[in-house]
Amino acid sequence: MTASFPLPTTEAPRPLLEARGLVRRFGGLTAVGGVDLSISQGELVSVIGPNGAGKTTAFNLISGLDRPDEGSIRFDDIDITGRSPEAVHAAGLSRTFQHGRVFANLSVADNVLVGAHRRLKAVKPAWPIIGPVAELALALIRPPSVKAEEAALREEVREILAIFGERLLPRIDQPAYSLSYANRRRVEIARALASRPKLLLLDEPTAGMNQTETAEMLEIIADLKARGQTILLIEHKLDMVMRLSDRVIVLDDGKKIAEGAPLVVRNDPAVIEAYLGHGGVGAAADPAAPAGPASDQPVRLSA
Ligand SMILES: Nc1ncnc2c1ncn2[C@@H]1O[C@H](COP(=O)(O)OP(=O)(O)OP(=O)(O)O)[C@@H](O)[C@H]1O
Ligand SMILES: [Mg+2]
Repeated sequence: MTASFPLPTTEAPRPLLEARGLVRRFGGLTAVGGVDLSISQGELVSVIGPNGAGKTTAFNLISGLDRPDEGSIRFDDIDITGRSPEAVHAAGLSRTFQHGRVFANLSVADNVLVGAHRRLKAVKPAWPIIGPVAELALALIRPPSVKAEEAALREEVREILAIFGERLLPRIDQPAYSLSYANRRRVEIARALASRPKLLLLDEPTAGMNQTETAEMLEIIADLKARGQTILLIEHKLDMVMRLSDRVIVLDDGKKIAEGAPLVVRNDPAVIEAYLGHGGVGAAADPAAPAGPASDQPVRLSA
């Protein structure tokens, strides 16, 4: 007699994101040279490596901003290889940028609302051909369904901004250009969160932040993780990586040279060599950082 219940399986659940054999060449330079990268639901995985290792390029490939020359990317059981950033975003992946990108002339609230756009229902008409016209008409007439959705979204914006304590809420109606550098970076994360992403990609969220701001960001990311947010993080500040990560992937010259638990990776001779060989863990070129060589940043492989 065959069993009528599902048999236990030893197969591990499929990762949320699975990139295989990613390659990206720029002329004669191989920025990403055959990298496998995966992350499961609820995990926080950090991608580290010296300047120019290929971290941002890998993020660009995953988020659809750039296309791989070789390799495949599956996200949430969909093949997203070579898809547009909009399609990847619609599939549930949001990212922030190394050098920060906000809409300078929009208010804090509107920046975050932009992030929520993919989830709007009432203001997105169901008729694709006359879509833009209908969308404009709905914006002008603002029927109750649109007003109700907007009110709910505004409330949600406040909830998202509250993650950043009193940093953004009191500035909710101020234009982004009037904010401090650190606050603009927070707005960008808030915008990425507004789409309720299945996977959040953060490219050096603390670049250009001082110690206090960095410590605060660490708490925020830890809080997001505790809420179940799956996060792929590029970060140069290794004490932060050590404290937050479930797993660490190390890239060097476009290749993955180590992967594993933070403590294991920290003591890996190939990793130590990669950092020492490049003259230190350089902070990314970042507009708010004081001028000076990247090697001003000490090599800190001990947490
Ligand atoms: N659009 C491009 N055209 C040409 N070369 C590029 C391009 N984008 C990146 N590169 C090169 O690819 C390599 C990897 O760059 P990438 O920005 O991915 O490094 P990274 O690991 O993010 O470094 P950092 O820590 O400095 O941000 C570098 O040598 C870089 O100069
Ligand atoms: Mg980078």
